[in-house]
Amino acid sequence: MNEHENSAPGESTTVVPAGGGELATYVAQGDRFENPGLPPHAYREADVNPHAAKRAERQVAIMFALSMVATVVFLVAFFTISDSSTFFFPGIGTISTINVVLGLSVGFSLFFIGIGAVHWAKTLMPDEEVVEQRHPQRSSEEARSDAVAVVTGGGRQAQLDRRPLLKYTLGGALGLFALPFVVQVVGTLGPYDTSYLKHTIWDPQENDGKPIRLMRDPEMTPIKLEDVTNGSVFHVMPETLQKAIDENKHVLEEKAKAAVILIRLDPDLIKVPKAREWGVDGAVAYSKICTHVGCAVGLYEQQTHHLLCPCHQSTFDLTEDCAVIFGPAKRPLPQLKIQVDDAGYLVAPQGFDQPVGPSFWERLR
Ligand code: FES
Repeated sequence: MNEHENSAPGESTTVVPAGGGELATYVAQGDRFENPGLPPHAYREADVNPHAAKRAERQVAIMFALSMVATVVFLVAFFTISDSSTFFFPGIGTISTINVVLGLSVGFSLFFIGIGAVHWAKTLMPDEEVVEQRHPQRSSEEARSDAVAVVTGGGRQAQLDRRPLLKYTLGGALGLFALPFVVQVVGTLGPYDTSYLKHTIWDPQENDGKPIRLMRDPEMTPIKLEDVTNGSVFHVMPETLQKAIDENKHVLEEKAKAAVILIRLDPDLIKVPKAREWGVDGAVAYSKICTHVGCAVGLYEQQTHHLLCPCHQSTFDLTEDCAVIFGPAKRPLPQLKIQVDDAGYLVAPQGFDQPVGPSFWERLR
């Protein structure tokens, strides 16, 4: 604020410009326009008509009650609608039922609380206009204690003591509205059904109990042991992938879990007996899904027999049953036991003996 702005009307002030130069003289002017003051207060219907006030109260209560209904719908939907349930919505396509119901119910729950609060403020709370004169930034002690009194008296101002119906319905609506967040946090702590993480389409039950052939990816042709020469690498899928596609069984998920890398090396280089026995004459198969966070371990260093994950450089030693020798992964790549069937093709007689990919809480050791 400039010095001359504080002068009384008609008073003159001489000011030295900040950068030097000639003195400037200002003459303070009075207000150009007369202060018209506040218009007369217009009373609302609810201020003068007890029936109208009661009606407004009921309307607000209905809003809060609708909010409670929406919250209950959220809770019921959370526990009853299956994650896999979908429906077709024209113009959008197939969408997840639970996402839509949870989104709409929590949206309506908040919406009705907002509408109820606004209607309450507009119809029942005091609406007298108040003039507050300009004053220094810091309020006087008296004004500050007044402010505290205003806040503490807010409940009285909102007529909570006179309108217990509003008090209880608002309390109910706000109390229930908090529940979806609590339910989501508590509900997501588990325990989860993680059986699908432990199962892959390499499990023989996917093939009526019979061994499952190793197929070249993406050609999906079976592989004979003699095709796998020393030092060669094959990216492999199980023959049951086609069945998963036909049955529309979360194909991408199943494919991701089933990815296998088949490598052949001198059997004498394999130091772990179990790893040698689970292979065929130096041909060994391992899950291609990194045990760190699930990237595809697709880089094979033929001279060192190391498998490398390109994401964070975890390195697995093939001669040590794919033990981690570098990087953030904490577990070896799971091995897939392979054999040769009567027709000379490589098959897996059993699934992985442990879950593939990154660790998860329910995995245990
Ligand atoms: Fe393989 Fe991180 S995902 S190292």
